[in-house]
Amino acid sequence: MRIYFDHNATTPVDPEVAETIARVMTTEFGNASSVHHFGQRAKAILDDARSAVGALVGGEPSEIVFTGGGTESDNFALRGVAEALEPTGRRHLIASSIEHEAVLVTLRALARRGWRITLLPVDQTGIVDPERLKDAITDDTALVSVMHANNEIGTIQPVAELAAIARGRGALFHTDAVQSVGKIPVDVRALGVDLLSLSGHKFNGPKGVGALWIKRGARITSILTGGKHERNRRAGTENVPGIAGLGAAAQLAKKKLTNEAARLGALRNRLEEAVLARVPGTAINGVRDPRVPNTTNISFDAVEAESLLIALDLEGVAVSTGSACSSGTLEPSHVLRAMGLPTPRTQNSIRMSLGAGNSESEVDFVVSKLPAIVDKLRSLTRSKVRA
Ligand SMILES: Cc1ncc(COP(=O)(O)O)c(C=O)c1O
Repeated sequence: MRIYFDHNATTPVDPEVAETIARVMTTEFGNASSVHHFGQRAKAILDDARSAVGALVGGEPSEIVFTGGGTESDNFALRGVAEALEPTGRRHLIASSIEHEAVLVTLRALARRGWRITLLPVDQTGIVDPERLKDAITDDTALVSVMHANNEIGTIQPVAELAAIARGRGALFHTDAVQSVGKIPVDVRALGVDLLSLSGHKFNGPKGVGALWIKRGARITSILTGGKHERNRRAGTENVPGIAGLGAAAQLAKKKLTNEAARLGALRNRLEEAVLARVPGTAINGVRDPRVPNTTNISFDAVEAESLLIALDLEGVAVSTGSACSSGTLEPSHVLRAMGLPTPRTQNSIRMSLGAGNSESEVDFVVSKLPAIVDKLRSLTRSKVRA
């Protein structure tokens, strides 16, 4: 038996989505820019997907630009706005200190080109305090980028409040909603943002395809130049099957979201309560609410997270020690560090993120295994300390 509790890293493709991709890939090979029949059929597929993705986030189809995934959408938002606003003299960018690497590393690259960067701190709640943004923002700020839901601890940021502060100072606002779209309702108008990133493989769609929602009129320059694809905003022949899959996943997510969020929230809470009750020396990282319903991040005193991950894997259970990009290294999570957790706690925390296929019996299986695994790892740590 294999149990997959790592849906924030990626999700399995929904069978209906896979069918759509296979159908489009085998029967609709046209280039969406071609004027003839084959091209027009491909274009119609893109149009349908654009409507479905727009509807999922409350935006107009014309405001959706398809990209090669969340990382590209984040790069497009940051680099595109930086380039567009450079002539205005604004040379300052703000983000939170718990952003995904797609934002943080891009900001470092922009810093090398002369942009001033401010990273907003968070405390142990894992939430950005809007007061910190008020302190940091200046008339020089071009863009503020704060993620909607954090990928490691699941906390939901007060994006609407933060975006209002940015707007008040004439700065654009981007949110990386890769971990919230498809999990909770997301509405670009209610959030009051200018740009929003999403990624197909986080909500049962294909990998390597995503979108940037760009509010009509927002000032942004293309970062991929060439042909006039995507209304001149992202050059390159569109990945028609992948985009069709993204559209199908968006439609399914919209239909299932309310029920699935409630079901996953109940499962996650069952898991959390049982772990806290049955394994001594455990604690949840970050506030419990507001959080996306599928995610929990738990620290286990005196247990190395990597060892716990491997022990669970041997039992057939897949979890993660943080963001997928930094796992495989023993680097403690930058998110837990930014929250000011003591160093041992940043090294003994695991993330469990639930999704469509998970059931109560899987949660109960994991809970039944954890006490003995943790005991064993703790006794090994104790004997290592004695040796
Ligand atoms: C918050 C967040 N932003 C961006 C990304 C990158 O998305 P993609 O894998 O589609 O490039 C991820 C993926 O882990 C993420 O969790």
